[in-house]
Amino acid sequence: CVCLQVEKHLEPFRLSLEKLQDVSARLRKDMLRGLGKHAHHRAAVKMLPTFVRATPDGTEKGDFLALDLGGTNFRVLHVRVLEEEQRVLKMDSQICAIPQEIMLGTGEKLFDHIAACLAEFLDSQKLRGQTLPLGFTFSFPCEQKEIDKSILIRWTKGFNCSGVEGEDVVRLLKEAIHRRGDYDIGSVAMVNDTVGTMMSCGYRDQSCEIGMIIGTGTNACYMEEMKNVKRVEGEDGRMCINTEWGGFGDDGSLKDILTEFDEEVDKTSINPGVHTFEKMISGMYLGEIVRLVLLKLTEEKLLFKGCPSEALLTPGSFETKFISEIEDGLENAKKILTKLALDWDLVDACVARLVCDTVSSRSARLCAAALATIANRIRTNRGLDHLKTTVGVDGTVYRKHPNFSDELQAAVRLLAPKCDVSFLISEDGSGKGAAMVTAVAQRLALQSR
Ligand code: BG6
Ligand code: GLC
Repeated sequence: CVCLQVEKHLEPFRLSLEKLQDVSARLRKDMLRGLGKHAHHRAAVKMLPTFVRATPDGTEKGDFLALDLGGTNFRVLHVRVLEEEQRVLKMDSQICAIPQEIMLGTGEKLFDHIAACLAEFLDSQKLRGQTLPLGFTFSFPCEQKEIDKSILIRWTKGFNCSGVEGEDVVRLLKEAIHRRGDYDIGSVAMVNDTVGTMMSCGYRDQSCEIGMIIGTGTNACYMEEMKNVKRVEGEDGRMCINTEWGGFGDDGSLKDILTEFDEEVDKTSINPGVHTFEKMISGMYLGEIVRLVLLKLTEEKLLFKGCPSEALLTPGSFETKFISEIEDGLENAKKILTKLALDWDLVDACVARLVCDTVSSRSARLCAAALATIANRIRTNRGLDHLKTTVGVDGTVYRKHPNFSDELQAAVRLLAPKCDVSFLISEDGSGKGAAMVTAVAQRLALQSR
C-alpha cells in the first residue's frame, strides 16, 4: 500500500518510449526552427553557429594557453600540440576557485579575477613574456560572430555577473588583461564546452562529430551541413552548431512532462523560465528535485515517520552526488540519511533509493531522446540508411553516476535504431579541444595570408 502511494508521486517521472519519441520529434522541429535566419532571438533551442568548420589536419603545432570556465571547476591550462605525433599534450593545469560573490558580482570583477588567475599560472609555468595564443572554453550560450568575437546571450547555471550579457566576452577578457598591463596574450579562439569536448575527442577518433555535456548543465553540439546554417554565408562543407538544448521547453513545449517538482525548482532558481530541459537533467538541479520529492513523501507520511529534518527542509542540502552514492548501495543510502539527520528505517532507505533512481533515469532517458534526435538528423542530412558516429562526452553526472551512461546508451539504441552511436569520454576536459580549435584557426589564418 505504501508502495502504491509512493508510486503515485513517482509516476509522472516515468516517460514511456512513445513519450520519448514524441519529445524527440518536438526537438527535431525546434532545431529546424533554430537554424532559421533570424530565429535565434525567439527560438527556445538556439542552434548557435560556432565558426568551427575544420577538424585538425595534423599539421597544427605549438604551445597554447586555455581557459575553461563554466563547469564545476575553472581551469587554466598550458597545452602543447605535437605535429609529428598528432597529439595534444597537457603540459600543466591549475584549478582556480571562483567565489560565489564573484559569480554574482560585476563582469569587471569576474574578468579581473580570470586575468589574475592566468597571471599566477603564467608565473608558475615561467611563461610570462611569451605571447601565446589562447583557447577560451566559455560554457554559456553565445552568439558567435567570428571565432574571436562572441556575445553572451545570457548567463545560465550559477553565474549572474552584471554587464556581460550582450557584450563580447573576448573583448572583456582582453580589457581585463590590459588593465593589469603586466602580460599579454596572442590570438583568442572562443569555444563552448561541448565544442571543446568534441574537438578533444576528435583528435583521437576522426568520426567524433557530436560533443555532449551532462554536468552542472547539459548541452550538445554537432557538425551540421553549411547549406542548412542560414545565419552564416556559404553553402559548402560543415559547421559545428552549439544547440543549447538546455533551453528546450522554454516556450512551454514540454509542459505536459513537467512535474510539480520541476516547476518548484524552476521557480526558486536564479533564472525562472529559462533552461527548462536543463533543469530536468543536469547536476545543478537533480539533487534539489530529489529533495523536493523526499519532502513531499514525508509530508504525506510515506517517509521518515512524517518528520522532515532541518536539513531536508533546506534548499540545496541534498547534493546531486548523493544520488550517485545512494544508487551505488543501500549502505550509502543509510549513511546519507543519517547525515541529513533523518529518522529512517530500512523501508525509508529503499524508498529514498527508488526516488534517486527514478529521477536520474528520467534524466538519462531525456538526454537519450535529445541525442537520438541529433544522430538521426546527421543521418538524414547525409542521406544515409545507417550512420556510425562517435559522441565526445564530459560532465560529472555522466562520469560519476553508476549507471547513467548505460541507461542513456540503451535508450539511444531504441530511439535511433539506424544509428550506431559510440561514446568517448573526454580526457583532461575541454581545454585541450579549445587549444586545438585555436591551433586550427591559426593554421587557417597563416594559410590565407
Ligand atoms: C569539464 C570540461 O571536464 O567538464 C568543461 O573541461 C565542462 O569544459 C565540464 O564544462 C562539464 O562538467 P561539470 O560537471 O564540471 O559541469
Ligand atoms: C549550459 C550552457 C551551455 C553549456 C552547458 C554545459 O547549458 O548554457 O552553453 O554547454 O551548460 O556546461
